[in-house]
Amino acid sequence: MGAGDLPAMGRIGFIGAGNMAGAIMGCLSKEYDMMASRRSVNALRALESQYDITTTTDNAELATSCDIVFICVKPQSAEGLMSELSEVDFSNKLVISILAGKRISFFTERLTNCTRVVRAMPNLGLLVEKGATAYAVSDACTPEDEYKAHILLNAGAYAVKVEEDEIDTITAVSGCGPAFISYFLKSLEDAAIRHGLGKGIAQKLLFQTVLGTCEYLRTSDLDYDGFISKVASKGGATRAGIDAGKREGVDEAISAMVDAAIVRARELGR
Ligand SMILES: NC(=O)c1ccc[n+]([C@@H]2O[C@H](COP(=O)([O-])OP(=O)(O)OC[C@H]3O[C@@H](n4cnc5c(N)ncnc54)[C@H](OP(=O)(O)O)[C@@H]3O)[C@@H](O)[C@H]2O)c1
Repeated sequence: MGAGDLPAMGRIGFIGAGNMAGAIMGCLSKEYDMMASRRSVNALRALESQYDITTTTDNAELATSCDIVFICVKPQSAEGLMSELSEVDFSNKLVISILAGKRISFFTERLTNCTRVVRAMPNLGLLVEKGATAYAVSDACTPEDEYKAHILLNAGAYAVKVEEDEIDTITAVSGCGPAFISYFLKSLEDAAIRHGLGKGIAQKLLFQTVLGTCEYLRTSDLDYDGFISKVASKGGATRAGIDAGKREGVDEAISAMVDAAIVRARELGR
């Protein structure tokens, strides 16, 4: 896409330019006018050279000079940040928060004249431009705001608009998903190594297996159970493994992981 094809966004700012903000910035066209803030000056210098952007340690200065303000600090830092931004007039700004747990009302109630808020839940697939992002918008968002959010959040990701009440569950599924899936893969790899397989070959086979499985499920008419039945024939090795997983409570363990993540996301929102 050439510079002339980019929708006009004005200046896009990122407050709390850490891992996730960096991943989002990395997926956005360098043609956008971007700015970032965090407290570490050394980290800001690195961001300046990596993304060719303006930086500041002053969050209020960033918010004042940007048209779209991404809020990317940890949820635990959100309340302090709101105080830092108390003098900024948000009436002409679109806020995009990626904070786990924090509801749209958290921002509209604390920031001056702030009504247009997008609450997004991205994931670290953005690091390889294969992110999965869900977002909800406040009632005051205009069609133009929604269009801008759609363009920005679709960069390097599959982004989908949802209801805000769905976001804590989405946090526990696709937000936490890359770590959950890595956890599952590590368990498979550890088991393979315990049985004498080399780490390198186990990992290569597992990565390719995940890619192939996801691609097949995505493109075929079979659902999970249909696909499992195709692989796990009666009396076979796959069926023996799945039966052992059921006996050992794998379903319950996975369900507990999702439940715990939802509970924690809600706690972070308080
Ligand atoms: N990581 C994920 O997979 C993921 C997925 C979905 C959503 N999220 C959400 O994304 C947010 C950021 O997560 P992350 O993993 O990117 O964390 P992170 O790497 O720790 O980034 C947060 C950044 O905020 C900066 N910061 C802290 N206090 C600040 C302040 N007062 N003003 C300006 N900057 C400040 C920190 O840098 P300094 O110390 O230099 O200030 C830090 O780099 C969280 O709210 C999380 O819920 C994360």
